[in-house]
Amino acid sequence: MPESTAIVRAWQTRFEDILPGFLPVLSQSPQLLFQAMHYSATAGGKRIRPLFVYASGRALGLHETKLDGIAVAIELIHAYSLIHDDLPAMDDDDFRRGQASCHRQFDEATAILAGDALQALAFEILAADPALSTQAAAQTEIILGLAQACGAGGMAGGQVLDLASIGSKISQAELENIHAFKTGALIEISTTAAAMLTASSSGERHALSRFGKLTGLAFQIFDDLLDVTGNSDIIGKPSQADAARSKPAFPSIIGVEKSYDRAYELRDLALAELVHLAGNTDTLAWLAAYAVDRDR
Ligand code: IPE
Ligand code: IPE
Ligand code: MG
Ligand code: MG
Ligand code: MG
Repeated sequence: MPESTAIVRAWQTRFEDILPGFLPVLSQSPQLLFQAMHYSATAGGKRIRPLFVYASGRALGLHETKLDGIAVAIELIHAYSLIHDDLPAMDDDDFRRGQASCHRQFDEATAILAGDALQALAFEILAADPALSTQAAAQTEIILGLAQACGAGGMAGGQVLDLASIGSKISQAELENIHAFKTGALIEISTTAAAMLTASSSGERHALSRFGKLTGLAFQIFDDLLDVTGNSDIIGKPSQADAARSKPAFPSIIGVEKSYDRAYELRDLALAELVHLAGNTDTLAWLAAYAVDRDR
């Protein structure tokens, strides 16, 4: 898939180029808050959620210009979730994306507020997106979808279950449920948002939803694996952190080999959904493969 690799690289470049324009101007007040927002949002990261947005748009024949605001909004929610995830009250991690985590670089209050502000900014971007203003119903549906994906029935709810599981013995099914909430929901809205903007069939929407759920779960299983097998310098965050915190994770529950097997099985199930899409699904397939074959 050399062509897909080139397209994905071009999307990553596009995303890095447009992102700063959506953030507050650094010289304005309150400068400390804006610095912290920039620090965490522009620190790099794989940008896999924006890539899912663009790739599902490609499968539905939508141009990137229509999707930039959505891609940024979802990535800002993700950046906020990482800032809060690293706080001492949560995973208490000092490194993120190859640099000091936000609360270590600034302070805890600033990190909490930068997360809050990034979350609000994400919804502001969607509500004010000129690319969506002619499709009010779709715009509302996307805002609702993102709110549900990051709220109590999505990421935030999953994070609560994740923290409640510390020190306890849970089943694979229970862990998959946590992963689906804390990570799968945001990836699912990344693969379904574009479908809300087009006259896509219910079959196509369902396939994109299933594809996002399955890939999202596979992605978090692989994140658990990288915590055990990865190199901290390359993953850009501490390794062995789940075990250090007695956090149930895939390798500790079913073992490393079975975790790989489950991640690959989910990837294959995700790929099977793509037959229901009439358009070009090459980059979606590339991303599903990448979710479970990466070093960071
Ligand atoms: C890390 O997400 C947290 C999870 C939900 C697995 P990513 O692996 O997408 O982190 P970045 O954005 O590349 O830093
Ligand atoms: C993070 O899961 C999920 C979020 C919603 C942020 P992890 O806690 O495993 O993510 P990392 O390993 O710190 O990136
Ligand atoms: Mg966590
Ligand atoms: Mg964490
Ligand atoms: Mg992890």
